[in-house]
Amino acid sequence: MDAISVIRTKRDRGRLGDAQIDWVIDAYTRGEVADEQMSALAMAILLNGMEREEIARWTAAMIASGERMDFSSLPRPTADKHSTGGVGDKITLPLAPLVAACGAAVPQLSGRGLGHTGGTLDKMESIPGWRALLSNEEMLGVLDEVGCVICAAGDGLAPADKKLYALRDVTGTVEAIPLIASSIMSKKIAEGTGALVLDVKVGSGAFMKNLDDARELARTMVGLGTDHGVRTVALLTDMSTPLGLTAGNALEVRESVEVLAGGGPADVVELTLALAREMLDAAGLPDADPARALADGSAMDHWRRMVAAQGGDPDAPLPVARERHVLRAETSGVLTRLDAYAVGVAAWRLGAGRARKEDPVQAGAGVELHAKPGDRVTAGAPLLTLHTDTPERFDYALQALAGDAIEITDAGSHEPTPLVLDRIA
Ligand code: URA
Repeated sequence: MDAISVIRTKRDRGRLGDAQIDWVIDAYTRGEVADEQMSALAMAILLNGMEREEIARWTAAMIASGERMDFSSLPRPTADKHSTGGVGDKITLPLAPLVAACGAAVPQLSGRGLGHTGGTLDKMESIPGWRALLSNEEMLGVLDEVGCVICAAGDGLAPADKKLYALRDVTGTVEAIPLIASSIMSKKIAEGTGALVLDVKVGSGAFMKNLDDARELARTMVGLGTDHGVRTVALLTDMSTPLGLTAGNALEVRESVEVLAGGGPADVVELTLALAREMLDAAGLPDADPARALADGSAMDHWRRMVAAQGGDPDAPLPVARERHVLRAETSGVLTRLDAYAVGVAAWRLGAGRARKEDPVQAGAGVELHAKPGDRVTAGAPLLTLHTDTPERFDYALQALAGDAIEITDAGSHEPTPLVLDRIA
């Protein structure tokens, strides 16, 4: 077998055979297939697509490139959630302890932010002392003791994806549905969860800008999970405007704690409960009542225990940025657009995100929203507060928010977009 013949097959719109897929993934992981060859193949896949059987085999080969975790020793059913990424998407933080409080075990292997979307680990690391890097034994220990854990995926899980994702990131080949689906699902299947709920984001702040593409991605991922014995469901949810009222690391932790305390923005509460119900259903616990676990403090109790078990102090004050800038409404009327992508880029430029994997993030940086689409605003009222330690970044953030990112109309009518747009099982 050789890389050039595999590339030619896909370049010429052929179907990759099982042996070709197994070989190319294994040889790439070992370094025998070069980055330039794999990037040519990734581009051919982006342009010419893959059939369902090819995606299934590609995913299986990526799983086989590393270790598989096993939670069968736990006394509870396991359930996990994966979001395809958005702006202000802090849902994992209240969701994991909430679902644990309802009786499932939640092994939430999470990632860092890159570009305009935030990462769960960056958010959690704004809690003083909290550790994202756990050994497999430590992870199992926290899961067993508390019922939930949020931590970084170990290097041993789907190493082929780790290499390939970094390559796709710099070769314009991230947006291929077969590659996104196999990348996400190889890690989730290798992680060993019994049930999986996918939050597939749709809109300006998401990978998938329209519903048709999001449905295709969701169907592909649900099919892969089901074929591997993982009970998998997808919700398609709106990402045309940020979730909640914050985008940024410590800002989002603070908002998540408000949700766990029984408050918080309505959209964050709604999506947290919708995903919790799906996870509990898929885990075989359909009678659990997540709304009650939020109200009676048991979800908060699990949060505090999880943070403490990973070295964090749940009572420590969260970092606050040194500088603030308030952006005010220019006219009175109804806020009809607050674009998720623009807010995500602004938060990123303020220091909440990173441009390269190695960059540090500012814990206190980000954007705070004072109004959401549909709200009436008056001229001069605060719309957004920008937070950063480095005030020279304000101008870059304001550039991202210029143009048509924010729209206020005096006509007065605004059709709200539903948060959950579709469900695929
Ligand atoms: N997240 C992943 O893990 N992989 C992708 O390809 C895209 C998003």
